[in-house]
Amino acid sequence: EAVNRTRAAILAWFDRHGRHDLPWQHPATPYRVWVSEVMLQQTQVATVVPYFHRFMRRFPSPRALADAPQEEVLALWAGLGYYARARNLHRAAQHIRDQYGGELPADLDALEALPGIGRSTAGAIHSLGQGRRAVILDGNVKRVLARWHAVDGWPGRTAVARRLWALAEHYTPAHRCADYNQAMMDLGATVCTRRTPRCHECPLQARCAGHASGRPEAWPTPKPK
Ligand code: ADE
Repeated sequence: EAVNRTRAAILAWFDRHGRHDLPWQHPATPYRVWVSEVMLQQTQVATVVPYFHRFMRRFPSPRALADAPQEEVLALWAGLGYYARARNLHRAAQHIRDQYGGELPADLDALEALPGIGRSTAGAIHSLGQGRRAVILDGNVKRVLARWHAVDGWPGRTAVARRLWALAEHYTPAHRCADYNQAMMDLGATVCTRRTPRCHECPLQARCAGHASGRPEAWPTPKPK
């Protein structure tokens, strides 16, 4: 049926054109996916890569991170900005040490209850790092879905966010969920870019309402002034 053909098109694109060589994919443990997702929340992949390697060398496990002095965590974060992310990561690692025996919980709600982990980051850890089906909706995925379905309205509005989450839920497969989620992030980062989307490279082109309109860059609707 139509949803499965669409998923298959996205996965086939991912196999050929997606990113398969990111450091946190080898191996994609829950801890490595978590740290990478937090670093990537406000920072580009190319900037994150060397920070990620240094961080993993110094703090190879949640316990190593939890036991470190906060100054040392912040020192390894220096240059990434948004230091609340590092403080939350450190506090969450202490929860993981004290409440979960040093392993990230394998439960979506428990992940989301940790400091600095929102619904989408929890979904990324659960799918990419724990091999479970979980829905993600980060900035890149929001842009892909908003264009594909011509979802009007600023995604910061509750009603618009709900619509985007419902679309994300609808398309996310149980089979190959991690690859599907990585594919959607990669599509947003490399094809369905903010200013000048490369629609001729997109597996969704024939299905995309934004492309059909001739102005795909009009979505997502900007924040009202
Ligand atoms: N941005 C957020 N998560 C990402 C991921 N897993 N890969 C690449 N870019 C990302």
